[in-house]
Amino acid sequence: MMQNFSNRLINWYKNNQRELPWRNTLDPYKIWLSEIILQQTRVNQGLPYFINFVTHYPKVHDLANAPEDEVMRLWQGLGYYSRARNLHECAKSIVKDYNGEFPHTYEELLRLKGVGKYTAAAIASFAFGQAVPVVDGNVFRVLARYFAIQDDIAQPKSFSKFFNIANQLIPDKQANTFNQAIMELGAMICRPKKPDCENCPLNHDCEARIHHKQTELPVKIKRIKVKHRYLHYLIWQNEEKLAMKKRGSKDIWQGLFDFDLIETKEALTKEEIFNAIYEKFPNVKVVEISEPVKHILSHQRLEAVFVELKTSNENFLNDNSLQYYTKQEVEELPKPRLIENYLTSKNF
Ligand code: ADE
Repeated sequence: MMQNFSNRLINWYKNNQRELPWRNTLDPYKIWLSEIILQQTRVNQGLPYFINFVTHYPKVHDLANAPEDEVMRLWQGLGYYSRARNLHECAKSIVKDYNGEFPHTYEELLRLKGVGKYTAAAIASFAFGQAVPVVDGNVFRVLARYFAIQDDIAQPKSFSKFFNIANQLIPDKQANTFNQAIMELGAMICRPKKPDCENCPLNHDCEARIHHKQTELPVKIKRIKVKHRYLHYLIWQNEEKLAMKKRGSKDIWQGLFDFDLIETKEALTKEEIFNAIYEKFPNVKVVEISEPVKHILSHQRLEAVFVELKTSNENFLNDNSLQYYTKQEVEELPKPRLIENYLTSKNF
């Protein structure tokens, strides 16, 4: 079965591959350059950039000696600009530390700036024929479907599982072609959506096709992004009363009570808070601005600053959802833990 996989894959690739400029070279500089450009970038988008870079900088020395601004300018539009800075630094290091020659092995290539496991395997196999498998999104997809692997590919530990499987499949003598072929199959046939199983050279043995699981594999569990929020609570005090308000729907703490709130996307300094309040309420006394208090919810990281304000005018509140409550009343209101903790710390 292992040999079937590789032979069929390689035969298919020989008859169906796209002509791409980095496939007609054994020059590690050009292969490295193409792979850095193609990270997080589709072939159609990356192709003109590759041609432009090779034209401007035919050898690694040319890139190493280029002014940083010029390199960044050529990269413009590709995004992920740290890739361009790493590219330039890596070129300089190849000239300075490696005598202008890319190292030949996977392990040595891994030490280069901006070169991870995928890129090291690509250079080692494409330029030097080393039998080390590439594992990128295409490879995850092809293998997960063919072998019906249920592991979540978003988990870092899944990488070694897929790497080990690919390592058993990759033929020593045709490592270069195997790696190109499995990525090409992933890009052209075993596509994320609407895979072209009819024309797939591996369709007879593919577990996902046999059991109609193509759309369920690979398993990739999206992590919910953690949101950072900066809360600046204005605590209006009038004699012994505190102004609180009931929180509305469509947000955290629905129906619980907190204080007058200024929320920002970035943290404000004490000075910025003070100035903002002074500008809006020049007659109000700022008693104290607390240090930021961190509060962690399941998908949110809150940072709260409590600003104690004193006003002599009970009718001062401009927001009619705010209302003054006595100590006894405040105690009885339902409150988020963040607010409860603050009040406790203040002995209120
Ligand atoms: N995407 C990343 N590397 C590639 C390569 N060598 N050929 C085609 N697409 C790619």
